[in-house]
Amino acid sequence: MKKGFMITPWEVSGDIDYSKLIKQFGTEKINDELLKRIKKHTGKLHFMLRRGVFFSHRDLNWLFDQYENGNKFYLYTGRGPSGKMHLGHLLPLVITKWLQDKFKSKLYFQMTDDEKFVVKRNLSLEETNRFAYENALDVIAMGFDPKKTVIFSDVDSAGILYKQALKVAKKLTFSTAKAVFGFTNETNVGLIFYTSMQSVPAFLESVFKKKNIPCLIPHAIDQDPFFRGVAREILPKLGYYKPAAIHCTFLPSLTKDGKMSSSNENSAIFTTDDKEEVKFKVMNAFTGGRDTLKEQEKKGGRPEICIVYKYLYMMFEDNDKKLSKRVEECKKGKIMCKDCKRYLIDKINDFLEDHQRKRKKAEKELDLFFTLKN
Ligand code: TRP
Repeated sequence: MKKGFMITPWEVSGDIDYSKLIKQFGTEKINDELLKRIKKHTGKLHFMLRRGVFFSHRDLNWLFDQYENGNKFYLYTGRGPSGKMHLGHLLPLVITKWLQDKFKSKLYFQMTDDEKFVVKRNLSLEETNRFAYENALDVIAMGFDPKKTVIFSDVDSAGILYKQALKVAKKLTFSTAKAVFGFTNETNVGLIFYTSMQSVPAFLESVFKKKNIPCLIPHAIDQDPFFRGVAREILPKLGYYKPAAIHCTFLPSLTKDGKMSSSNENSAIFTTDDKEEVKFKVMNAFTGGRDTLKEQEKKGGRPEICIVYKYLYMMFEDNDKKLSKRVEECKKGKIMCKDCKRYLIDKINDFLEDHQRKRKKAEKELDLFFTLKN
């Protein structure tokens, strides 16, 4: 049975019903027709698009109308640097990197050290600022093109951003902010102002280029209120386009309840975890297996509720044939959970080995990306 769920930019819990969310937020489902349209420009579709890991959007058809008329778009996404990054945080980055490659797009990457400072009671500004640069190593390790990518800390690039945020803030009333984000009289005013900061990169390129340039924001669906309620409402009033967006689902927690989350160490695989940690966590993951081997041989497993399967489906097995073969064998009781777990452990460890090497290298590359100088 589905329990309730709760989703705000600062809290996600419960079993999320994504089709309900499309209705609730008023976004559009990514349908076959749209996938065909994307494919026309990209050749092969990324498996995360084909499989509905990215399931919803705003104004992608408009964006492609513009594109097909020679008005190219740029990309914008971001990260709230409140701690180490885990695999779930990488999902939007995977598609952003793919889009950058396919469309040769410029990318603005916002590190919201301001937001995380005002939201997190236990973090100092020095800490969130430090995480901005530490998390940037993970972003760089994803392979973004330094010539086309600008990463910035809100705090350190405030001289540029604040001027633009003011224009948004002047048009955003407290009553709208309350309605969109559920703010109360207890909400600190830093967070209330911050909501304008997150709109800035959605028109910053248009400011710099002195002409309107469409913007596409890949992000996890919990960030939608910022764009639905602030950027898309206010940017037209300032003479800019509404940003388009493409939304992904959440990588689930390894232990089943809710999404992968840093606050529960065993639910999450961090980008800095070593091979043994990965092994331990995946070995303890929730599966659709039966109580005994015998029962599993007889009845087969249940991929539809299996977290290991979800990880393969969403992120780690891009080969459709291999994936469906695994599902069939599981359902027939021919393979056991241990087999899939080992398979996933190897996949994750191969990925992380490469990622950690690139992450190390990125320590020397920060200057190439942090180019938004005040
Ligand atoms: N608020 C986001 C977070 O807490 C960070 C962020 C800023 C972001 N701008 C964005 C995320 C644009 C996605 C797209 O993680």
